[in-house]
Amino acid sequence: MTDPAAADAAKRAAARAAVAMVQNGMRLGLGTGSTAVIMVRELAARAAAERLSLRCAATSVATADLATSLGLKVEPLDAIGHLDMTIDGADEIDPDLTLIKGGGGALLREKIVAAASERMVVIADGAKVVEQLGGFPLPVEVLAFGLASTQQHIDHLLARMDMADRPVMLRQRSGSPYRTDEGNLILDLELGAIPDPQALAAGLSAIPGVVEHGLFLCLADIALIGQPDGTVTLL
Ligand code: 5RP
Repeated sequence: MTDPAAADAAKRAAARAAVAMVQNGMRLGLGTGSTAVIMVRELAARAAAERLSLRCAATSVATADLATSLGLKVEPLDAIGHLDMTIDGADEIDPDLTLIKGGGGALLREKIVAAASERMVVIADGAKVVEQLGGFPLPVEVLAFGLASTQQHIDHLLARMDMADRPVMLRQRSGSPYRTDEGNLILDLELGAIPDPQALAAGLSAIPGVVEHGLFLCLADIALIGQPDGTVTLL
């Protein structure tokens, strides 16, 4: 979706549909990214208008700051414990609801929060829906310690999986290595296509130095796909 206004309208449609699923008293996980920003704004407006009592855990410092500034009650995940529902965006969504996430750098907290939730509701515009994952570079959060060694293990894994010589880029921001909220680095794996997400996820998780990867397997329960005309389709 190249028209930013159309993409925005589609994101808003998905965000509104997710916020409509929120019930008074819920414990919510709040995602990160531009779609999540719209959702948090919609949620805060509804919570204020209907005087909803909600407890929220955020997936990033940015989301925590935004939600707090809008009057939502944000608490540490461990203070809440189990969450009823997490609403978050995605970079790619395949037909099995396997996701690539982490374009915004928050994949580690996003996965922890999603895993602590009864339901994960994904909100996105139609451009995120793909037949096969991998067009979007796969973010992998790694420790700075031993970066070259970790990168070598990733290269070997990709070679074993017939994905040799795919670019692995250290994410940059303003000319310096990007740091996550946890102070780690991100490698973006430009794979083009991921024929076996489960095998790749298992291989990445087994590498010392990999903190977490952006493949979300068996975490999403439903995806709300917004359209620019305000309609929403379910995956
Ligand atoms: C952040 C994420 C985001 O959910 C993902 O990047 C989608 O973002 P956007 O809604 O801006 O397209 O995983 O780490």
